[in-house]
Amino acid sequence: MATSWTVAVTRQIPEAGLAPLREVAEVRVWEEELPPDTEALYAILDGCDGAITLLTDRIDGALLDAHPSLRVVSNFAVGYDNIDVPAATERGVLVCNTPGVLTDATADHTWALMLSAARRIPESIEYVREGRWKTWGPLLLLGQAVSGATLGVAGLGRIGKEVARRAAGFDMRVLAYDTVQDDEFAAEHNVTYVPLDQLLAESDYVTLHVALTDETRHMIGREQLARMKPTAILINASRGPVVDTDALVEALQNGTILAAALDVTDPEPLPADHPLVTMDNCIVVPHTASATVQTRDQMAKLSADNLIAGLKGERPPASVNADAVLGN
Ligand code: DGY
Repeated sequence: MATSWTVAVTRQIPEAGLAPLREVAEVRVWEEELPPDTEALYAILDGCDGAITLLTDRIDGALLDAHPSLRVVSNFAVGYDNIDVPAATERGVLVCNTPGVLTDATADHTWALMLSAARRIPESIEYVREGRWKTWGPLLLLGQAVSGATLGVAGLGRIGKEVARRAAGFDMRVLAYDTVQDDEFAAEHNVTYVPLDQLLAESDYVTLHVALTDETRHMIGREQLARMKPTAILINASRGPVVDTDALVEALQNGTILAAALDVTDPEPLPADHPLVTMDNCIVVPHTASATVQTRDQMAKLSADNLIAGLKGERPPASVNADAVLGN
């Protein structure tokens, strides 16, 4: 039964999210491949009660002031650094996200990146495709050992923990850095918390799973890269600005570290002629760590459930400011 709610969805998302929305609201979907620019975003949100937004949409105080009818912003992502949450809270706007449903997909993909970089899989595929494969060679495309190596997980939250758990299958020593410690998880999964500098110095693989905040922006810069082993590989599946791009280019060009594998970059997207894209010792994929059919269906469903609950004045299944907006 349709109600008088109007909601915007700022990109095409799986039907699993659109169908429940259509049952309760008039739904406006931004159908283009590229995100709406600011003007188009303001226009599509005009008069809306709620919206499913993406990490490419900047939601700030000015936008919320210009759209006083907007009561729920349901982000189609676990990360919500595109939203000024304090500004939303101040205006009584609920902000929701999609934790949990993308944890496994992102952890799996992190491992895909790690193994691909370690064993030089993209270079190997290119080698064969280019017709350069003449014979088996003892020195051909040698990579780095994964089994038995040391894995450093910076940010041992939901995703970091799943990445760490998977390391048991590779008999790895696992180090972790985080500002809060889960000692029970660490004991159960043989993870040792260490300061960031120690993690960087001792790890063969450093994988980043922190949220982007003022504190984590450029958490990996020149100084941190210099602490890493020359044989180390950096994996970033968090947010691009956690790594200083220029410093990483330099480190990869100078041999400060061996290689990098990036699901996220700064800026995003990177142009095809950017050094990180063209260098053999860097793998860049287009922010697809959570991109499985199953996970995207679940993200769509959860973001719709969040939005509908918020519109009904109920506590959404996953909100980052419900306590402040609705009260405990
Ligand atoms: C997120 O959810 O924050 C990812 O970056 C996209 O899945």
